[in-house]
Amino acid sequence: MSSIVCHPIIKNGIATDARIKKQRPPPLVVARPRDLIQEACERLVLSDQQLRRIMVLMEKSMEQGLSGKKAAVKMLPTYVDAVPNGTEKGDFLALDLGGTNFRVLHIKLEGKETKMTGKIFRVPESIMRGTGEALFDHIADCMAKFMEENNLKDATKLPLGFTFSFPCEQDGLTRGKLVTWTKGFKASGVEGSDVVTLLRDACHRRKDIDIDVVALLNDTVGTLMACAFQENTCQIGVIVGTGTNACYMERLDRIPKLAGYVDEHNVTPEEMIINTEWGAFGDDGALSFLRTKWDDAVDRESINPGQHLYEKMISGMYMGECARVVLEDLAKQGLLFGGHSDAISTPHCFPTKTFQKTYQILEDIGVEMITANDCANVAYVCSLISTRAAHLTAAGIAMLLNRINKKHVTVGVDGSVYRFHPTYPTLLDAKIAELIVGDIEYKLMLSEDGSGRGAALVAAVATRLKEEKLAAAATASER
Ligand code: GLC
Repeated sequence: MSSIVCHPIIKNGIATDARIKKQRPPPLVVARPRDLIQEACERLVLSDQQLRRIMVLMEKSMEQGLSGKKAAVKMLPTYVDAVPNGTEKGDFLALDLGGTNFRVLHIKLEGKETKMTGKIFRVPESIMRGTGEALFDHIADCMAKFMEENNLKDATKLPLGFTFSFPCEQDGLTRGKLVTWTKGFKASGVEGSDVVTLLRDACHRRKDIDIDVVALLNDTVGTLMACAFQENTCQIGVIVGTGTNACYMERLDRIPKLAGYVDEHNVTPEEMIINTEWGAFGDDGALSFLRTKWDDAVDRESINPGQHLYEKMISGMYMGECARVVLEDLAKQGLLFGGHSDAISTPHCFPTKTFQKTYQILEDIGVEMITANDCANVAYVCSLISTRAAHLTAAGIAMLLNRINKKHVTVGVDGSVYRFHPTYPTLLDAKIAELIVGDIEYKLMLSEDGSGRGAALVAAVATRLKEEKLAAAATASER
């Protein structure tokens, strides 16, 4: 979902919307002082002390995850243990499923150049929440259409990278069982199953397409890889879009649950990218000390109550709803909209999307008696929600930077909230700088299209390593 909350333009406390000047009805209630609203929203402002506590708790949860114990933060091994070296080339297919859209891409890697042709298909809600078989048939159908339109059907099987942006328990680069659906998906019969097998089965059912899945990956991993291709200090990949998540390069000696792991060539890699699935941080109660009644309400009404609580305080899928429940509460307390809360009480009526016209949005959803003060206060609540989201994310990234503890680290970031929110990137950056320790130098880098380019890169690295290893084995047997 390319949707975000942002703020109307406020000058001297008045929203500068031309429509307000022309159409603003006379204020029927005496404007309430901002401090009453400030007081009511106090819990949405997080102190540095609270953020530092989050960092400690999150790292604790991560360590539990790495040890293989039951943990909220799953820390899923990705079996990606090498980043691109710049020599990757060739033709690849990429599939990208992670939100309301599904993409099929044909990617040509040539040195630092990437050429991409792709097509976006919608995933209707009925498919997101229907049967797994129907979902994968839809994916195969979209693929077949794309291959037909691009004359790829008869091409030899191209190596395919499958970006599947949900938590997957992998035991190799080409296999992974869905742990649990997130972001509004609920297709039956997929949780606990290997999604690559489900995809292959769907292709076999229709018989007209053949695929060679060489890599299954999370969007954060694609983001890290796409960024590492440009900047070899990239160690962290973060998504703040419909959902939020991060992956990072972890030393194998700090992943107890992979003790004794050797790859198919009997080699123990030094490092591996770990998909943290940090969205689920707090599912064990670790965030109770700062969650609000409004967060509880958003969670209660969601499709997966009790799950992905950190994500529900941060990402684009929930930001608008979070702002809405706060506004509803303030209206009920008589602090907004002359005490009228009906219009703002409809779940999901307050869109999480770019708007600079508070008045128009409120009017569109049917709020009556909107004053300029109301507009300014709505903007204020939105800014609190966005700032809290940016600061919570900053705590996660700063914790990872401190843990990696390298002098120069680049963080690849992508997602609609990071890309389009007017203040989120600046708020995020400033807070990370305050929370890191020692003399770490970091830089946030927009990592474009990790889910597509990154998938081709993971597929390319896998293909290159396989060829190198086969060549080495052949040379050894000649000796
Ligand atoms: C959700 C998914 C995760 C994904 C993130 C961003 O949190 O569980 O796998 O990386 O959204 O798309």
